[in-house]
Amino acid sequence: MAKITIAIDGFSSTGKSTLAKQLAKSLGYAYIDTGAMYRAITLFAMRNNFIGQGTENIQALIQLLPRIQLKFIPNAELGFSEMFLNGENVEKEIRTLPVSRHVSRIAEIEQVRHKLVDMQKAMGKDKGIVMDGRDIGTVVFPDAELKIFMTASPTARATRRYKELLGKGDRVTYEEVLENVKNRDYIDSHREFSPLRKADDAIELDNSDMGLQEQFERLESIALRVIDKT
Ligand code: DC
Repeated sequence: MAKITIAIDGFSSTGKSTLAKQLAKSLGYAYIDTGAMYRAITLFAMRNNFIGQGTENIQALIQLLPRIQLKFIPNAELGFSEMFLNGENVEKEIRTLPVSRHVSRIAEIEQVRHKLVDMQKAMGKDKGIVMDGRDIGTVVFPDAELKIFMTASPTARATRRYKELLGKGDRVTYEEVLENVKNRDYIDSHREFSPLRKADDAIELDNSDMGLQEQFERLESIALRVIDKT
């Protein structure tokens, strides 16, 4: 059977990663969470005081970009790959609210996007991949055989994210999470370089009122149909 490229884009906390991961597993495809790459660079910038605490030194970050090594390493026990930043497992740290607060600013930087988009293109060169993010169907793989664009209302997304963070033991309020979701939506869709937008040929999936199983079944049947026709 022919292998295809599947691009899944959409707003934050629409459950893209969960679905993309599940789809990749059922098809036997590789899964790449590109948000993890932007988050890892953000963590690097925060640790070096290039961003956060009211300061910003984007030029210093740009200079150090060639020295930032990112790697996805599979964790057989968990069943997915974890993000390593210069050899250190940062999977947990990149998902915290402080990183979420700064990541959209870092993802606006042209040089950061160039570095990550080049890496993402290389990862998908043999197809058989499900990649999720914001610009996968528009910039990284404009020729992807299947493009999905996921949306849900800001409150539905904030509720999901809030429960997820509480479950991990993070002390956050619903209001902060909702504000972060709205803020990121705005920055992600208004930035100069590859803003978040639905590709013309993407299929839109609004999952405000849809359960995970229903979404997965719908997505899987779309993917199998496209693979069949390829
Ligand atoms: O998917 P996520 O919420 O983990 O992504 C974190 C941030 O990274 C998000 O606010 C926007 C940015 N991002 C991006 O600009 N382009 C991508 N392909 C993936 C993520």
